[in-house]
Amino acid sequence: MGQMSFTPVESLDEDAARQELARLADILLKANAAYHQDDAPVMSDAEFDALKQRNAEIEQLFPNLKRSDSPSELVGAAPSDGFSKVTHEISMLSLANAFDAQDIVDFDQRIRKYLGLSDEDDLSYTAEPKIDGLSLSLRYEEGALVQAATRGDGRVGEKVTANAETVNDIPGKIANAPKLLEVRGEVYMAHDDFGALNARQAETGGKTFANPRNAAAGSLRQLDSEVTRARPLRFFAYAWGAVSEPFAKTQFEAIKKLKSFGFQTNPLTITCRNTEEMLQHYARIEAQRATLGYDIDGVVYKVDDLGLQGRLGFRSTTPRWAVAHKFPAELAWTRLESIDIQVGRTGALSPVARLSPVTVGGVVVSNATLHNEDYIAGRDNKGDLIRDGKDIRVGDWVQVYRAGDVIPKIADLDLSKRPDGAERYVFPETCPQCQSAAVREVGDAVRRCTGGLICPAQAVEKLKHFVSRPAFDIEGLGTKQVEQFYADGWIAEPADIFTLRDRYGAGMQQLKNREGWGEKSASKLFDAIDEKRKVPLGRFLYSLGIRHVGEAASNLLARHYGTYDALDRAMDAATEMNGDAWEDLLSIDGVGEVMATSLVTTMTQASEKASIERLVRQLDVQEAVRPMASESPVTGKTVVFTGTLEKMTRAEAKARAESLGAKVSGSVSSKTDILVAGPGAGSKAKKASELGVETIDEDGWLELIEGA
Ligand code: IVH
Repeated sequence: MGQMSFTPVESLDEDAARQELARLADILLKANAAYHQDDAPVMSDAEFDALKQRNAEIEQLFPNLKRSDSPSELVGAAPSDGFSKVTHEISMLSLANAFDAQDIVDFDQRIRKYLGLSDEDDLSYTAEPKIDGLSLSLRYEEGALVQAATRGDGRVGEKVTANAETVNDIPGKIANAPKLLEVRGEVYMAHDDFGALNARQAETGGKTFANPRNAAAGSLRQLDSEVTRARPLRFFAYAWGAVSEPFAKTQFEAIKKLKSFGFQTNPLTITCRNTEEMLQHYARIEAQRATLGYDIDGVVYKVDDLGLQGRLGFRSTTPRWAVAHKFPAELAWTRLESIDIQVGRTGALSPVARLSPVTVGGVVVSNATLHNEDYIAGRDNKGDLIRDGKDIRVGDWVQVYRAGDVIPKIADLDLSKRPDGAERYVFPETCPQCQSAAVREVGDAVRRCTGGLICPAQAVEKLKHFVSRPAFDIEGLGTKQVEQFYADGWIAEPADIFTLRDRYGAGMQQLKNREGWGEKSASKLFDAIDEKRKVPLGRFLYSLGIRHVGEAASNLLARHYGTYDALDRAMDAATEMNGDAWEDLLSIDGVGEVMATSLVTTMTQASEKASIERLVRQLDVQEAVRPMASESPVTGKTVVFTGTLEKMTRAEAKARAESLGAKVSGSVSSKTDILVAGPGAGSKAKKASELGVETIDEDGWLELIEGA
């Protein structure tokens, strides 16, 4: 795919169209299988859709070329129609909003009036964080989870039972609970887990999420529950729907009961005797907001007495007995002074908004990300309009926001304040750093500089990555030093780091004379560099900063190929992206087409290859050894897992197999030794039996490795 530029469909001749249809069929069919059968997406939904769209356009222009295996009928990754509908026995309502202290006083007054209470009468409320996730209703019958449903429009939701079952915080069975109990609460993703998930997604070329809420929603609404299982979702219970019998007298007691049934309940839930206490708790929660580790967007107050809740009842879509006191949005308006383009390690051109400084949620902001050219133009990565299609122009009055501690973003703009003569922003089609062409590949939202090593921005970013902690981690050689050395022409590529002593060490005059360097620090630096010459293959590979090839993948590749020479030979053999070496690369569980393409393209491109080889000559790249304590019954065997595993997760099964010296692959071939097939195993089991591959079930596997 790396070679497939965005040739306009109209300018394809018949031959080119035929070739491209073949290529698209191959990529899309594999991507589809990777997504639906292997739980290992090799591209984002947007990429998939874009490729499918291109395929359709070509087919429309050349109907006679439509292939018998045309991917045009494939159902993409959009799950929306894939779930069956559930009508909630009791509607899932939303909450009325309040924004300031007066709104809360009014809320209390309204309730007192409705109930005929005076200001002196006791009236307690609970106060708890409003979790920013998505609500879920869990139906338990005789203590067993029988159905999970999303809120949907409040009346009809989607049935996501199999997915909910994979969430750790959601018990499959509960004890001492009413015969029928619908537990309601919020599914969310913690900040740490969100960060790790996005990093993993980016590494594997998958879809990354804008915020934890989107990630939680996207993860819960997966057609394949195995994908959900791999996503770190959590759940707080805070309410209930249908129940066979009352199980508490107050809201607070009910929450305690939910906890005793085995649910997570929010520890910041308290009872308050009056509005002052409610507002105090609001202030307390707001102060803790940044350190909670998950997103909340306000505080919910509920009348504590369930008898009174019953009397108060509901308005059309919200209960009278509760209100959400929202946190003020971290938003501010300011002027967009200019748009700069930054060039990253992989050549990505990232537009950055330079803003007239403004305080957003207590922090002064003068830069914000503009994501990519489509975002500036008012489109998302599917081509749909955002901000009603308003494009962003220099001079515009823009609304800036911060979500958590992430980079500020621009939410909206005020057309009425647009200066006369403001012009549509034209995204550069050449790299601002090296003037090479900057191109967009099919399905890529990002325009990238094609300058490779000749691009100074890419070179510096690559060097920074090379010396970063998970890569070479050379003491005394950080971002600042790398920038300085590069600017002075001392280092242009990683190999140059290792010849610094030879070139500048003798007199050491030049380094010594620099600001911040003395004889001691200079020789310390050279020693620190020498110390890192011996490097494990996985770390070496990661340090090259190849797009889509992250830390985990680098280690997988290292373990698969063993030595740099073997890896290098395999890449050469896979240049054409077909044949045995290519198939072998794709057979590594965790390596998809996108990553493989990037790896092969980079490692075989002449100047990149020469640069890597210069580096290798300076190093002692260690052979990767499988962590193998002793021989086990599966040592050296190639194992494939398929279907549903019931006693362990896929990730767990794979890690265990690898620790016993087995090689875990994602697809069945003649090289497969054992297929472990759980319920629902499909094409892989069939293929294994055709090839005569030994097939066992999960219990058989556990027996086989027992005691190993
Ligand atoms: S109580 C009948 N408590 O906020 C009212 N909702 O804006 C039941 N939410 O749809 C909701 N945290 O998804 C309640 N502690 C909390 C909540 C909470 C988050 C969500 C819930 C609801 C939405 C309303």
